[in-house]
Amino acid sequence: MNIALDHAELATEGLAETRQSPLRLFAAILRNPLTALPPEIFRERLVLSSVAGRQSLYVCDPPLIQEALVKNAACLDKGEIARKVLGPALGDGLLTAEGAHWRWQRQSVATGFQHEKLLGFLPAMIKAAEATCARWRMTSKPLDIGHEMMRTTFEIIVETMLSGHAGLDVGKVERAISDYLEPTSFVFAYSVFGLPNWVPYPGRARARAAIAYLRESIGELVAVRRAADTRHGDLLDMLLEARDPETGRAMQDSEIVDNLLTFITAGHETTALGLAWTLHLLSAHREIEQQVRDEIAAVTQGGPLAPSHVAQFSFTKAVFQEAMRLYPPAPVITRQVVKPFRLGGLSLGEGTVLYVPIQAVHRDQRLWDEPERFDPRRFLPEAVRTRHRYAYLPFGAGPRICIGSAFATMEAVAILAVLLPALKLSPTSDAAPEPSLKITLRPRRPMLMMAEQFKAT
Ligand code: HEM
Repeated sequence: MNIALDHAELATEGLAETRQSPLRLFAAILRNPLTALPPEIFRERLVLSSVAGRQSLYVCDPPLIQEALVKNAACLDKGEIARKVLGPALGDGLLTAEGAHWRWQRQSVATGFQHEKLLGFLPAMIKAAEATCARWRMTSKPLDIGHEMMRTTFEIIVETMLSGHAGLDVGKVERAISDYLEPTSFVFAYSVFGLPNWVPYPGRARARAAIAYLRESIGELVAVRRAADTRHGDLLDMLLEARDPETGRAMQDSEIVDNLLTFITAGHETTALGLAWTLHLLSAHREIEQQVRDEIAAVTQGGPLAPSHVAQFSFTKAVFQEAMRLYPPAPVITRQVVKPFRLGGLSLGEGTVLYVPIQAVHRDQRLWDEPERFDPRRFLPEAVRTRHRYAYLPFGAGPRICIGSAFATMEAVAILAVLLPALKLSPTSDAAPEPSLKITLRPRRPMLMMAEQFKAT
């Protein structure tokens, strides 16, 4: 066993143990991994789960999350499961790399995410949102909001990180990312149960073709930029110019492809999902939607949106934050212990798998009043001060915290500030969309909405 009780009296408080039937768990992971999470994670600090003799630990309590992800970050790596699920596409890029290789890459791109640099991205964000708005005005058909938001954020990520499409076929890239994500439940289930890679599963051939396509098209883009010898001051340039502080070596093309793919996928899908869930919640809470419109009108004075307005939309930002509380786009963080350490009265041995179930923490009634209620006022500064810092962690915590958090928040606020004053979105069905876990928290079925011109009453 990798996990042992350290001090019995400490460990028994807030510690639950669950034994899951392997067959049932396997089926639940394939159907929707969200339904495979043990229900105890919504009310206990630590949940020790055993499946067919394999133990893992869910860390659900903010101080213990801090202890694990921040204080003991050096004792953890991303782990076997993350490597198996993400490694084939993202290689050893910033999201999946470890140790010195990770540090070098993080330092190389850090300046690209400083506040001043982000402000320079706002015109591209507003332009892409305006294009979406114009597209929606032209149609009288239901819109697949998840897909529409992906198109918008994809446009923004390639414009800001790569200075434009440079020959990338947006539609094909988006399909390839979906094809890759589709069978990830199988990859995850196989990793949890230690099944060998050669056991077949549906969608594998298509996922492999998708990876090949993505890596090849991004590789061409790198080759073109190298050959042109022009500089744009974007992410691609930063990667081309990066030097390993220990060896002085530059990144090889395959390492640059790892990172570009990482930034393209991590940098557009999550924000798009956060926005799709926000638009769903606003369509169900028209009075809050009106407050957002009032804030936007008060700042812009009814004129066009300017980059300088975006920082002033504090309520709109709170709406996006609250939507990510209820529907965190990356709902579970995984880690594996590489150096034994103690946590909440348990001794964690090498190899222990840890899960931080962000969505469960965000809906824990010991941390949140009426956690199921959509209430953006929770994110106004006075309310934030009363909570533990790690009661809310849509962007993760510790050294591996999302590098794009400020980028994503600014982008989401700018997009909402363009769309909401112009259009009213109404779902085509009364049924609430069901969230499903495919690494990210996606609506299980397309989230269909009709767009009509917004008219103030
Ligand atoms: C609402 C949008 C977003 C959410 C919810 C989100 C969430 C996360 C989370 C939870 C992590 C940590 C994963 C872990 O600890 O295992 C992460 C890491 C990361 N994110 Fe984001 N992200 C978002 C947007 C972005 C954007 C816009 C970019 C890039 C432009 C980005 C790039 C990355 C990268 C490169 C990492 C790895 C960082 C490292 O390990 O050093 N993300 N993200």
